[in-house]
Amino acid sequence: TWTPGNVIAEQVQAIRAQVGDARVICGLSGGVDSSVAAALVQEAVGDQLTCVFVDHGLLRAGEAEQVEQDFVAATGIRLVVVDAAQRFLDALAGVTDPETKRKIIGREFIRVFEQAARDVVAEAGAHGEEVRFLVQGTLYPDVVESGGGEGAANIKSHHNVGGLPEDMRFELVEPLRTLFKDEVRAVGLELGVPEAIVWRQPFPGPGLGIRIIGEVTGERLEILRAADAIAREELSAAGLDREIWQCPVVLLADVRSVGVQGDGRTYGHPVVLRPVSSEDAMTADWSRVPYDVLARISTRITNSVPEVNRVVLDVTSKPPGTIEWE
Ligand code: XMP
Repeated sequence: TWTPGNVIAEQVQAIRAQVGDARVICGLSGGVDSSVAAALVQEAVGDQLTCVFVDHGLLRAGEAEQVEQDFVAATGIRLVVVDAAQRFLDALAGVTDPETKRKIIGREFIRVFEQAARDVVAEAGAHGEEVRFLVQGTLYPDVVESGGGEGAANIKSHHNVGGLPEDMRFELVEPLRTLFKDEVRAVGLELGVPEAIVWRQPFPGPGLGIRIIGEVTGERLEILRAADAIAREELSAAGLDREIWQCPVVLLADVRSVGVQGDGRTYGHPVVLRPVSSEDAMTADWSRVPYDVLARISTRITNSVPEVNRVVLDVTSKPPGTIEWE
């Protein structure tokens, strides 16, 4: 019979058999898959595992803390955090094209992870140990999609840590290869991974970088983070988290419109709410969020985020609109 406990027992054995007493490295993204994969490997080989979390500064409010504090507290994982926010901002300066943003973020991510991985390898080497394995949160649907077998891990490379250079080739540890998403969640809960991580909605690897339409700057990130936090809070409070697949909040940073706030005219930015319902993100419909919830989100954002004077709702299905705006 399938129980999370059985899966854990089975995988713990398999992981121990695969890695022996070698050291293991894992890139944490803050998402469900990499977190549960890391927690499983930690359960199996404890401190042989080092996780690396690259904070690219494009996360939502509270997400870095969720990984750095809550996840570490819950699992006891040895974690290296790289604060690379400024580096990503510098690399993104002046860039407005969506695909260029994605390429830059992906490239910088791999470079920063690579350097952190080298440091971990060097440190282990100084103690006479060898880092031979890399954990990946590949799920069963990813394996099937790519035809199974070799290369199956590559499908996630765009939002994971693929593309490492020749001299840094690790053998992969993929303890979630036989599992579906809901099974991964059950395993994560059983392992004590925080609910906020286990139930996290999909969030793109390039993060808020592709939710600012226009150039990404530190100030714009602050504005979007504040607006996004309010939307997430109200949707959660209304009990809509499981019903809604995800709700991007998008800052139209190059658009201004006239408003009136307090006793003055403003010339501020709109944010777009993009709540969608979906099974697999391939197609989606816009979510019929109750008007009173939308009203609360709008009032709170325009009251407390001074740069935003308009909140608009995206009522486009996918297709023709993608879920993200970039
Ligand atoms: P779209 O916008 O294509 O999004 O309808 C479909 C799903 O994929 C997520 N997404 C990404 N995830 N890297 C990622 O890891 C990306 O570059 C990326 N772009 C979109 C999006 O959030 C949605 O869940």
